[in-house]
Amino acid sequence: PPVWIGVDVGGTKVLAGAIADDGRVLRNARRATPGRRVEVAQVEEAVSEAVHAAAAGAEILGVGLAAAGFVDAARERVVFAPHLPWQGDGVRARLSERWGVPVVLDNDANCAALAEWTYGAARAAGSAIVVTMGTGIGGAILLGGRLVRGANGMAGEFGHMQVVPGGHPCECGGRGCWEQYSSGSALVRNARGLMSEQPSVLDEVTGGNPDLVTGPMVTAAAEDGDLAARQAIVSVGEWLGTGLANLVAALDPEVVVVGGGVSAAGDRLLEPARQALERSLVGAAHRAVPSLLPALLGPEAGIVGAAEMARQDAQRR
Ligand code: BGC
Ligand code: NA
Ligand code: ZN
Repeated sequence: PPVWIGVDVGGTKVLAGAIADDGRVLRNARRATPGRRVEVAQVEEAVSEAVHAAAAGAEILGVGLAAAGFVDAARERVVFAPHLPWQGDGVRARLSERWGVPVVLDNDANCAALAEWTYGAARAAGSAIVVTMGTGIGGAILLGGRLVRGANGMAGEFGHMQVVPGGHPCECGGRGCWEQYSSGSALVRNARGLMSEQPSVLDEVTGGNPDLVTGPMVTAAAEDGDLAARQAIVSVGEWLGTGLANLVAALDPEVVVVGGGVSAAGDRLLEPARQALERSLVGAAHRAVPSLLPALLGPEAGIVGAAEMARQDAQRR
């Protein structure tokens, strides 16, 4: 049967999925993201390969492209992407022509939010904040039954809120951005620092080379009881909760949904985040503090939401 394809283009990997009409993931395929300082064509080649592998010969009804970057209000181009080579690029039309199918484009976190809202953790909520924790932090705001897009289409870029003036340099060109303290990259940085100060199973896993540490390694080491790995996650969780307290103060949502690769750490991440949220949220004793929920669709939220966007777009036409 014909399928919808959702493809999530992140700073580390490209994940494509063939999605059924009811949001089920039928098949998926992944490729490594070639990097940030490569030709656009190389990234698009990886995206194309993943799309065709996920389709596995089935007819493609449409493709939803979830990009880790700032998408313009017309949703034609990726204006700026800290972790990808797309800069001001009219990628939607080009890929639609290349594949000969309708393509819709949106920010990756917006896609994940649509999926969580349609099928997942935000389903019954009237308002929600969604954050996705991968290479960076993605964000989306659901208010009054719709995605808030902002004047430039760039609302929800929470990852680049400055939380430490003069802090760690960020790939966006700024300093002290939230995603430098609370994301997959932050998790890896924390773990590298901690393993040089104390014994850790990460030494064995990497042969003592901190450069080889990856996010999933840290999550696995924490499961094995490794203290350095657990501390690395707690720090990311605390920064998560503190940043969320500011967002909740501004937007007062019913729920907060946390997705992306790092959310695989589950309550090891979310418990410290809940405590920090409770501690830092203004008027916490006088309000319902929003529940902090793991994304129900996990790391597949982006592809499910992107496919859902393609489907809704076809219905409108
Ligand atoms: C980008 C966002 C993206 C997020 C997650 C951030 O660095 O600025 O556009 O949603 O990473 O991939
Ligand atoms: Na967003
Ligand atoms: Zn930044």
